[in-house]
Amino acid sequence: MTEHYFTAQPSARSRPGSVTVKLADVRLELATDAGVFSQSRLDRGTRVLLETAPLPPVRGPLLDLGCGYGPIALTLAARRRRLPVWAVDVNDRAVALTRRNAEAAGLGNVTACRPEDVPDDVTFAGIYSNPPIRSGKAALHDLLRTWLPRLHPEGRAYLVVAKNLGSDSLARWLGEQGWPTSRLGSSGGYRVLEVAPG
Ligand SMILES: C[S@@+](CC[C@H](N)C(=O)[O-])C[C@H]1O[C@@H](n2cnc3c(N)ncnc32)[C@H](O)[C@@H]1O
Repeated sequence: MTEHYFTAQPSARSRPGSVTVKLADVRLELATDAGVFSQSRLDRGTRVLLETAPLPPVRGPLLDLGCGYGPIALTLAARRRRLPVWAVDVNDRAVALTRRNAEAAGLGNVTACRPEDVPDDVTFAGIYSNPPIRSGKAALHDLLRTWLPRLHPEGRAYLVVAKNLGSDSLARWLGEQGWPTSRLGSSGGYRVLEVAPG
């Protein structure tokens, strides 16, 4: 059976690799491995998110929801070295890579862990995610219902979703749930959605 990148403990034999994240303001060399999302290059959707989404309108901890090997968390942490950045994933190999990449980049403001290890009282000024669309609509909705309520009253979430994977219907669903959602940008078939707390 095909193993998905959101498996908790990938059985895929380790095949270490690396990805260079090159943006206008940040350059990072990140270790990757088999069994994590987009292990051989920066995902195009992730790039669109990092090039489009601003820092949130208020200061406070940031969350990379579904961090993979850490390109979003580490870019945010490099842009704002004084802000705590939480990076969570259900894939233990991904969490370990993000932790190791943060250490190698000297980004002590990143905490990489499993979702359940984020203390309940931590809330976020910004949530950034290239969410796990392929885990299915019900799982995606559960994930968003779990984390969006943890936005500060003036915080924002930024989600990148491919148009052909349902960005417009996700935006509609978010609005129906009481989270005002707008399209912040669109590039190469990806939409960046900006979500405000309900
Ligand atoms: C599309 S990938 C994005 C990875 C990384 N942020 C990137 O841009 O390369 C989505 C990630 O969400 C993770 N994921 C799936 N279900 C999750 C859950 N319930 N909580 C946290 N992360 C989850 C997957 O393991 C995967 O690493």
